[in-house]
Amino acid sequence: MSKLIKVVAVLLLSSVIYVSCKHEIPFPIGSGGGGTVIPPPATVTCSADTVYFQNTVLPIIISNCAMAGCHDAITHKEGLTLTNYNGIMKMVKPGNASGSKLVSVITTNNSGDVMPPPPMAKLSTTQIDAIKKWINQGAKNNNCASCDTSSFTYSVAVKSIMANKCNGCHSGASASAAIDLTTYNGVKTVALNGRLMGSLQFKVGFVGMPQGARLPDCEIKQIQKWIDAGTLNN
Ligand code: HEC
Repeated sequence: MSKLIKVVAVLLLSSVIYVSCKHEIPFPIGSGGGGTVIPPPATVTCSADTVYFQNTVLPIIISNCAMAGCHDAITHKEGLTLTNYNGIMKMVKPGNASGSKLVSVITTNNSGDVMPPPPMAKLSTTQIDAIKKWINQGAKNNNCASCDTSSFTYSVAVKSIMANKCNGCHSGASASAAIDLTTYNGVKTVALNGRLMGSLQFKVGFVGMPQGARLPDCEIKQIQKWIDAGTLNN
């Protein structure tokens, strides 16, 4: 009998642990972090009418759905690992956004079903529209390059990289590692103390960022140039 109680207690406890879905620390500091870096498919030149999986869709999903305790490789809630193309495609019907589970969970107004779950914010309309468009365009595992290293101001280059690839985890009171990258001051702080480039370049002693994949070299160069030019609020 007491054995049974123990088993029940263990089951209850583990479900409590799994229910919490916060931005916890998934990798020990200095482990290199970032998980397995899967090489992206061949890069084409960006076309303005196409939404690319690697450039737009994957960063939105990693940043908003694949944090520790949710759909990352370790927790994979409901059997879903949303850190790569194959995992995400389990919720996608190519060419049919409105028939895709991914779209229904990010657009529903039902607070019990919506993803990311409250208190996390819903995806923005721009992010939802990009995901729908990508699905309707065939949901390919595509990738493009358009980044221009001669553009490296905070407002044009740095801020948008943060918005697309970092802010899902690094914003507000519950920001990962207490690093808020939604403001100029927040980015400047980690730029000046070396943590920004340490993590972006996967240097020893830093946790590699963003989690799951490196930024394209061109974006890392834009951020480096912005730092070298004096981390201005320009
Ligand atoms: C999926 C969530 C997630 C995304 C996306 C993400 N981060 Fe992080 N970040 C974390 C977590 C969690 C930690 C704390 C890791 C630790 O301490 O083990 C962290 C830590 C950091 C650190 C401190 C690293 C160190 O070793 O001192 C920096 C700097 C950072 N992130 C910057 C970024 C930048 C810049 C981006 C976007 C290019 C980004 N992060 C994207 C979750 C994320």
